[in-house]
Amino acid sequence: MARHRIALIPADGIGPEVVGEGVRVLRALARKGRGLSFAFTRFPWGSDFYHRTGRMCPEDFLERLRPFDAILLGAVGRPDIPDHITLNQLLLPIRRGFDLYANVRPIVLYEGLESPLRAYKPGQIDMLFFRENTEGEYSPIGGRHYLGQPGEVAAQVALFTRRGCQRIVEAAFEAALKRRRHVTNVTKSNAQGHTLVLWDEVFAEVAARPRYRKVKTAQYLVDAAALEFVRRPDRFDVVVSTNLFADILTDLGAGIVGGLGVAASANVNPERATPAMFEPVHGSAPDIMGRGIANPVATLFSCVMMLEYLGEGRAARRLERAVRGHLARGDRTPDLGGTGTTRSAGEDVIRRL
Ligand code: NAD
Ligand code: IPM
Ligand code: MN
Repeated sequence: MARHRIALIPADGIGPEVVGEGVRVLRALARKGRGLSFAFTRFPWGSDFYHRTGRMCPEDFLERLRPFDAILLGAVGRPDIPDHITLNQLLLPIRRGFDLYANVRPIVLYEGLESPLRAYKPGQIDMLFFRENTEGEYSPIGGRHYLGQPGEVAAQVALFTRRGCQRIVEAAFEAALKRRRHVTNVTKSNAQGHTLVLWDEVFAEVAARPRYRKVKTAQYLVDAAALEFVRRPDRFDVVVSTNLFADILTDLGAGIVGGLGVAASANVNPERATPAMFEPVHGSAPDIMGRGIANPVATLFSCVMMLEYLGEGRAARRLERAVRGHLARGDRTPDLGGTGTTRSAGEDVIRRL
């Protein structure tokens, strides 16, 4: 019997509320599923830890996380500490330090949810994002000079490597083989003629491989892609894009399928060299923290992705059915127009397992 070692980093704002519910649901799933077992270890890192120690987490945080099979993270960020400090000391260094280069984000219009795009009914929006997660516009290379002077300058290098482009595009094509066999490439190579032309060339090389001859492709500039997301989201199956563009497009994607309360994500190293990290797409939502009304569904769908990753396909499908049942027929949290709470939504999912 495999006992899965899960590191929990609830961190800030609504993070502890939604991760708490995730753990309750996973424990309930383990009680029902023969042979399924978890060992959870909670790390008290985040903004409280920063106020006590001056850092978001201990210096050896990657070494402490490495023995785990997976990480479940809540959200990082609090209004009283600058975001570039909190995020660059905890979330982003895990993604980069563990080389979790594929940020996988499903955008699905589930039964029971209403898209602001009235023409679209459940099932008609179903895409899977592959966001490059380790380089691109998020590279920490750069600096500021002549601080506070009129001639002050700041530079942040958008860094693209052939290897970095190739491996995320490959991951997207591999996923497409198991779906509707369509990959859309989103860049901005009309303006960014060095980095994103390299990306587009690599995309074309991968697309031309015999292994992917049955996969159809499409190509959009990111501005046109944003338009098309709202006009014809059914045109997209797998989408591959850069770190920053896909960050923005996946919030837009969440917006057309019911909001951030349902948007899940996985940060994975497909070679499985390091523990993968699962987290809701949303942030710490300081505007609703502590009120018990945060939607736990994004975290629960992230747990579904974690179960798949851990090789627990049956348990993953069981949990996914229960969460979908909750969305279709349960009392949902206020962000989805219901009167439910974080806890009651989690309990409803547990009843449906
Ligand atoms: P946010 O995602 O925290 O919130 C945006 C809006 O969505 C808010 O109105 C919020 O109440 C709502 N919302 C988000 N999650 C919800 C949920 N589960 N249920 C119900 N409503 C929900 O984004 P923001 O306000 O731009 O950022 C707040 C903080 O979080 C910042 O410090 C930011 O840097 C950080 N952040 C962290 C992560 C992360 O840790 N992965 C992601 C995004 C933002
Ligand atoms: C996300 C978040 C992060 C990102 C921020 C908080 C750095 O917006 O996971 O989507 O941009 O990757
Ligand atoms: Mn984001």
